[in-house]
This record gives sequence, C-alpha cells and structure tokens, in this order.
Amino acid sequence: MQAVILAGGKGTRLRPLTVYTPKPIVPVANRPFLQYQIDILRKAEVLDITLSLSYQPDKIEMLLGDGSDLGVNLKCITEPNPLGTAGAYRYAADQIRETTVVFNGDVLTDIDIAKLIEQHRSRGATATIVLTPVEDPSRYGLVETAEDGQILRFLEKPKPEELASLGINTINAGIYILEPEVLDMIEYEVNTSFEYDVFPKLLAEKKPFFAYIMDGEYWRDIGTPESYLEAHQDIMGGKVAGLEHMTADYESATAASIDSVSIIGEDCNIKPNARIINSVLGKNVVVEEKAVIENSVIWSHTRVAAGAEIDGAIIGRSCHIGRNAVVGPDTVLGDKTQLTDYTKV
Ligand code: GTP
Repeated sequence: MQAVILAGGKGTRLRPLTVYTPKPIVPVANRPFLQYQIDILRKAEVLDITLSLSYQPDKIEMLLGDGSDLGVNLKCITEPNPLGTAGAYRYAADQIRETTVVFNGDVLTDIDIAKLIEQHRSRGATATIVLTPVEDPSRYGLVETAEDGQILRFLEKPKPEELASLGINTINAGIYILEPEVLDMIEYEVNTSFEYDVFPKLLAEKKPFFAYIMDGEYWRDIGTPESYLEAHQDIMGGKVAGLEHMTADYESATAASIDSVSIIGEDCNIKPNARIINSVLGKNVVVEEKAVIENSVIWSHTRVAAGAEIDGAIIGRSCHIGRNAVVGPDTVLGDKTQLTDYTKV
C-alpha cells in the first residue's frame, strides 16, 4: 500500500499566509500541517508516502526530509509545471503498481484509513472516494450515491433552490483509494483534474466506483483563513480525535492569565497581566503587559506590545503589533507586518 499526498497547489485563498510558507506546511497548532496526514497514514501502516509538489517544493522537502523522524519513508516529486490534481497524481505515482491512498494536502481529518482501505477491498472497488456531510453544501460540488454506496453522479455547486429538492449533503472530502487502473486512465504530463476528468470517466466506463461516507469522523479543509482558524478552534475544543494537548515549555509571569485550551509554543514569553484566551501562539512569541489575545492564531517570533488587543485574527511570523493596537476579527497579517502603536485593523 502506498500514499500520494497532493501538496503542490499555490494556496491562493490562504494568502498572505502562503506567500512565504506553502499551504502543506503552514503551522497548525504549531506543527507543519502535513504531519497530521502523515500521522494518520502511519497509524494505518501506510508508510511509503510520495509528496507531489509544485509550489515552493524545496521548503517542504527541507522541512520534512526523508520522513525518518516521522516514522515513514517520504519521497518528494516536483512537477515541471502544475498538472492539476489528477495530472499531479499521475506524475508522482508513475511507478506505483499497487493500491494507493491519495490525499488532498489540505484536509485535516481523524479518519481511520485502515477501515477505509478495508471497505475499498471488500467491495472490489477500482476507486473509492471519501464523502463527508456538510451543513451548507451550496459552496461545494455534491456527490450522489446509491443505497449500496455506488457513486451515481457529481453535481457542481447547485443553486439553493435545487438543493432542497435534491436532498444531498455529501461532498468530496479529497481522500481517495485508487487502483493502478485509474493511473492508466490519466495522460502523462497533461493538466487534468479528478473532479472534471477522471471521476466522470470512471462513471462513463461503469467501473466499480464507491463512496465511503464519513459518519462522525472529523473533517475540515484548511484552505481559507476562516477554515484555518476554525480548525484551530476545533483542535483546542478537543474535536479532532488523537490530538493531545500540545503546549510546550514557555515563560509566563505569575500575573498573566492563560486559559487551559490555549496552545503555547516553545520559548514564548508572556508578561504580567497579559491574557491569552482560546488561542495558539507559535514558538518564541512575546506578549507584553496587559495585551489580550483571544480566538486567534499567532505564528512564531511575533511580538505583541503592551496593551494591544487581538481577537479572531491570524498573525504571521515575525510581526510586530504596536502598543495599544486593536486587531479585529477576520484580520490576516502576512509575515513581518509592522503595526504602528494605536493602529486599528
Ligand atoms: P487555492 O489556490 O487556494 O485554490 O488552493 P490550492 O492551489 O491548494 O488548490 P486546491 O485547494 O483546489 O487544491 C487541492 C489540493 O490539491 C491541495 O492540497 C493542493 O496542494 C493540491 N493541488 C492543487 N493543484 C495542484 C497541482 O497542480 N499540482 C499538485 N502537485 N498539487 C496540486
């Protein structure tokens, strides 16, 4: 069993966070994101993992190395130019002649991969696609299935009035189990997508093509600032199975207040009367006197000066938030942003 993680997208929706850090390795609760996917593959004993890269590949390769620190064998393959999801899989998996788990490299989940593989095998499927139910499916492409789990059709972003009559709320979760036969259906070095090219072809050729419908497992893609922040709230809220509380050693004044769900990175320094509520601080963040950080994610080496208030924001690496600045909900600051004292954003 092999795995391919598609990790070559530009991550435009997550800008400015992805200007210097490619999406697959943005820190999530202070770990490079891909490590969560590698963890669940390792748990299912899928140890041979190929990363399909395109955007800033060297940063990803340098950080994760050959996977030995994570207990897996990692291989990085960089495309000559972006090939789309299916084209990237074809390029990266060219030599693979076994069943393969394919992951979109921006999906945070606690799915049991072993159970998924078992279902794929027991149904004799050529392809299995994981579906997840969502509350508001209007933003997504929907997938309709038969009683026995066979995939019937894909519907791209139906209108709200159509949705009610369709009664479907399952979307493509970006996790697939594919037989090498699928690889053979994709042209080499041609930009192609699973959604628009490969899946319709599997349906047209009447291949055994099944859904695995999530039932209570956690799933969220971290591809927008809103969902990136929500993923952190979910981790702190204990909604993602198997993630232990990850606070490291840090320094804090006795008069500082840090709630029990917040995750504080190594070497942080939290000064007297500062308050940290429901937030994640990266390594070496300094929070000065009376600053308040709430419902936010702050990347490493950022300094929050005295009296600043940050709520519902994402702040990149090595930023400086001036004294008494107010940073409100939905703000996303790129690396090295400097906010002058008393700024309001
Ligand atoms: P946006 O630009 O914000 O849409 O993000 P994205 O570029 O990551 O695109 P999208 O979220 O649709 O991609 C889903 C997954 O496929 C992500 O994990 C991407 O890294 C990956 N991906 C998308 N396009 C390519 C590609 O051309 N090559 C490779 N190797 N991976 C890709």
